[in-house]
Amino acid sequence: MSPLPLSSRGTIGFFFLFLIFFAGCSAPPGNPADGKRWFLMNNCSSCHGPHGNDGRAVNIAGLEMGFGSFLRKIRKTDTQIMPSFPETKVSKQDAADIYAYLRSITPEITR
Ligand code: HEC
Repeated sequence: MSPLPLSSRGTIGFFFLFLIFFAGCSAPPGNPADGKRWFLMNNCSSCHGPHGNDGRAVNIAGLEMGFGSFLRKIRKTDTQIMPSFPETKVSKQDAADIYAYLRSITPEITR
């Protein structure tokens, strides 16, 4: 009899599930300074404003959605106004940088 409540096979299986979960859902580490550049370069700023909170479109500064939802949003938007940004325009790493940038700024307009 094993002294552990989980069999070692179960533990290993659990470990792999854990890895798959984090590989799929978590943001790769993003660099906010690069993200700011991609945000301006891809003209996100033309709709959302140069600070994410001062444009005509919805305020996305200090974004609270998870990275997975954010990535889905830019890959395939459900609005006719916002264009979609495929991998060729905004790579996953660029998206992670933009995400890090948006998380680093505040939704309050301070000018
Ligand atoms: C042509 C205008 C336009 C451009 C360019 C644009 N967006 Fe948007 N975006 C919108 C509009 C309008 C909405 C609100 C409708 C919606 O939620 O789909 C939106 C919604 C979003 C949302 C969801 C916000 C929420 O709280 O649900 C995110 C995140 C977002 N945009 C990020 C970006 C990023 C990042 C870029 C650049 C890579 C970008 N957008 C470029 C117009 C734009």
